[in-house]
Amino acid sequence: MDQNEEFISAAQSPTIERFEVTHTAPSNIALVKYWGKHAAQLPANASISFTLSAAHTTSKVVFEKSTTPKVAVVLEGVHTPAFEPKIEQFLDRIRLYCPFLKGYSLQIDTANTFPHSSGIASSASGMAALAMAVVSLEHTLGGIREADKTRKASFLARLGSGSAARSIEGPIVSWGEHAELPHSSDLYATKFAQSHEVFNDYHDCILIVHKGSKKVSSTLGHSLMNNHPYKDARFEQATRHMSKLVHALKKGNLESFIAVVESEALSLHAMMMTSSPYFVLMEPQTLMVIKAIWAFREETAIPVCFTLDAGANVHLLYPNQHREPVHQFIEGVLKKYCEDQFYINDRCGTGAN
Ligand code: PMV
Repeated sequence: MDQNEEFISAAQSPTIERFEVTHTAPSNIALVKYWGKHAAQLPANASISFTLSAAHTTSKVVFEKSTTPKVAVVLEGVHTPAFEPKIEQFLDRIRLYCPFLKGYSLQIDTANTFPHSSGIASSASGMAALAMAVVSLEHTLGGIREADKTRKASFLARLGSGSAARSIEGPIVSWGEHAELPHSSDLYATKFAQSHEVFNDYHDCILIVHKGSKKVSSTLGHSLMNNHPYKDARFEQATRHMSKLVHALKKGNLESFIAVVESEALSLHAMMMTSSPYFVLMEPQTLMVIKAIWAFREETAIPVCFTLDAGANVHLLYPNQHREPVHQFIEGVLKKYCEDQFYINDRCGTGAN
């Protein structure tokens, strides 16, 4: 049987007139990066992330029965048609698995806790919140059991934005088949439940070095991996990094954790610097922050490290027990490299609800 078949809903038609629901879903930050995909949003390699908490999206979704179904998106109180094609595309992709959607118009009222100009992508949290809403409707229609909701939400979120699959649960989540993760799948993410206590309540300070939207969209970035000269080496490296990180997470080995996480961030950027066309997504301040983090770690032996997304902002990761000296370091040293001195104190969270 095709593995996707189990995700086709038992609810075939829209049997209730109107359904309204609100869900909140967090952003996440990858420790081993997903960069490269094939077919219907299937990852070229497995990835693993910290689910965040402060940076999240809340969406109220009203499903209304209609013979001419439409989508309307209201972002922070303002009708924003620019977002609607992305949602339409998402609904097209998931309709096979949620046939009941065919009869509904959707009104989505959405808001992020982070400023949308801040350079933090809202696609993971936004798609995860919307997937949760669709699954809530499916459950109300009797199409899915309570016990299967989380997996289905991750499966649907993946079809919206790959990394969104990792925003349903927390605090540590993997997505993509990997030999050392027995229940892992390319179709949905699963919670990594064996981490050492040092990773309970890990912090992520998001240093906003550059506000504004991403220079390279994820869609373009992933597609540049298709003919990338280093693609095979990169996918093998990510697979090796997953093994190393899984061990580090289990044992609480921070030295090994830091080595993998920083290498992953730099590899992601190296892929963009060596693709055709090529891109440099770091800003001068990105490097200044990285060097300051290394100097602080060297001087204090406090196990801080950095990671990067596909942009200039830096995520500073550190264990809860070191929060006081690290806060002083952020205020005293790192803040000045941030645009308008803006940063977000975030930490690992438990996922969508
Ligand atoms: O989910 P997408 O298609 O926006 O891709 C996300 C890619 C990275 O954020 C750069 C890495 C990751 O694994 O989250």
